Amino acid sequence: MSTIDDIKQRLDIVDVLSSYLKLEKAGRNFKALCPFHQEKTASFFIFPERQSWRCFGCGVGGDLFSFVMKKEGTDFGETLKMLADKAGVSLERKKEAVESRLTDRLYQINEAAAQYYHDLLLHSPAAEGARDYVMKKRGLNSETIDNFQLGFSPGEGLKKHLMERGYSEKELLAVRLAGEKEGRVYDLFRHRLMFPIRDIKGRAVGFGARALDDSLPKYLNSPQTAIFDKSSILYAIDRAKGAIKEKRLAVIVEGYMDVITAHQYSFTNVVASMGTALTEKQIKVLKGLTKSIAFALDPDVAGDAATLRAIEVARRSLEREELEMPTWLGTTSKLRAEMKIISLPQGRDPDLVIRDAPQSWQQLVDSALPLMDHLLTVAASKADLAKPEERSRASQQLLPLIAELDDDVQREFYLGKLATLLGVSEKTLIGMAARLHRTRSEKPSKTETKPVTPAYFGDRLEEYCLCLLLQHPELRDKAKELELEHFERSENREIFMAWSNTLNSDELLAIISNIDLQEHAKALCGKALPPAEEKDWEKALSDCVRRLDERRLLNLKIQEESLLSDAESEGRSEDVAALQQRGVEINLKLKENFENTMQITSSHREDQ
Ligand code: UTP
Ligand code: MN
Repeated sequence: MSTIDDIKQRLDIVDVLSSYLKLEKAGRNFKALCPFHQEKTASFFIFPERQSWRCFGCGVGGDLFSFVMKKEGTDFGETLKMLADKAGVSLERKKEAVESRLTDRLYQINEAAAQYYHDLLLHSPAAEGARDYVMKKRGLNSETIDNFQLGFSPGEGLKKHLMERGYSEKELLAVRLAGEKEGRVYDLFRHRLMFPIRDIKGRAVGFGARALDDSLPKYLNSPQTAIFDKSSILYAIDRAKGAIKEKRLAVIVEGYMDVITAHQYSFTNVVASMGTALTEKQIKVLKGLTKSIAFALDPDVAGDAATLRAIEVARRSLEREELEMPTWLGTTSKLRAEMKIISLPQGRDPDLVIRDAPQSWQQLVDSALPLMDHLLTVAASKADLAKPEERSRASQQLLPLIAELDDDVQREFYLGKLATLLGVSEKTLIGMAARLHRTRSEKPSKTETKPVTPAYFGDRLEEYCLCLLLQHPELRDKAKELELEHFERSENREIFMAWSNTLNSDELLAIISNIDLQEHAKALCGKALPPAEEKDWEKALSDCVRRLDERRLLNLKIQEESLLSDAESEGRSEDVAALQQRGVEINLKLKENFENTMQITSSHREDQ
């Protein structure tokens, strides 16, 4: 038995989760208020028979491992250790030692590469153009170049240099400093300005690489590896963490160059999201340092409702596990998270603004508006509010965001502001907001709901699906419907995630750092598939997906039944009728799903 299975066997999901949540019996299952989103009626379910959980409100679910990972913010390996402890299973010391020695090597390779690139930028005749570029064209001084250990990648040479120092081609491939083509291993970064990317502990995890001319892409970045998880890294966080704490403010900009220039001009609380939307993991990192985050956005983005909504959602995630601060009244109140928007002038990024006039950057930061005020300002400036249709559009965009605010005082404050802006009575808006607030917390929306598995489809289904994907690369394009949430068992989910991020099983094995997971992945790659399916793997896969979907519907039924029995015992006849109707709909879908499966099976037989 694998360590993972051993732990699962010894721990009961109900026992473990009851130390985090107040559980209530719901038939054979349990329910609770979801710890991952705000709600008043319980839509978080635990299914003891399958040892799984799902929240029908926010649509997430999984097994014991994924619950603990999400709740504690730990990764798979750390969670394994925690739960092994709880279960009294000893993870062999040897395994741990091997694992950490392997990842240590990966950090060391990156470190050696960073040093190599850096030395070349400083001294190599071939880097003359690159030196001119950073110093003359981009205005960076030598202290900054040292500070950020900027470098230059030549056309060829890194591989040789590293191999002379005892690193293997395999290790170079594992950190993706090299690529492989027709059996030949070659340097991945060529003729580029190199930016080592470090984690909060200062370890080199990957690289950004800028073209020195107009060639595309402008930036090449290290792909995901065992030590580089892009979604959790903020560029320069290792250099900025002190200043962020001290100033109680993190400033987030988009680009490498923006960060570097900011630091050169002593604005050292600046980090970059590296061109993507901020993720929950990145927020978690910042959360340990400050409650106040300011985003520098260019005017197009700063007026874009979708982006701002994403930031507001991020704010809430920051708030959820807020510190409870004792107050002089003896009660507790929450220290609120704050998201501010720095509006950049049209067509200018922080790099240009700072180099032009550092004091004007300081002014921009000082005059950053809290997100909601910014939204109201944008709405006021954009919409021609004399027109009724513009007014209603503005209210449609802003009202839901305001309605979702958890803090009553803030909600009322912004409703008042919005009422003034739109020229409607505050009472009307408060009524509308209350309705929005209620429907959100009570009704699990269809699109958000993606529940799990009945007892009789075992994990064999998930594993069979993964075997197909790992052993039949040609199925990749046919697997678009598959989602992370189709996999309930964390170890399968981790493998699926790794599969999504890589191109073949060698790469997949290279990016999985945890030994137990590696073993699981290897087993899946090697498992013999039943010969009956030999003919049509594509159909086998689509059948699999359909069955995984069926689990989803069956769980929806469990939830619906529990809600129904509550409604009946409380005599809410309107709700009873609605829930019965929903039950009918779910049954219809199940029937449809069943018929499709039959069709697949029968046409499959005809083919043979
Ligand atoms: P920008 O294009 O704004 O880059 O992209 P920049 O940092 O201001 O670079 P300069 O001033 O032109 O030299 C912002 C960030 O988006 C990511 C990088 O992290 C970049 O810093 N990006 C951009 C990529 O990853 N790939 C690209 O091709 C472009
Ligand atoms: Mn720029």
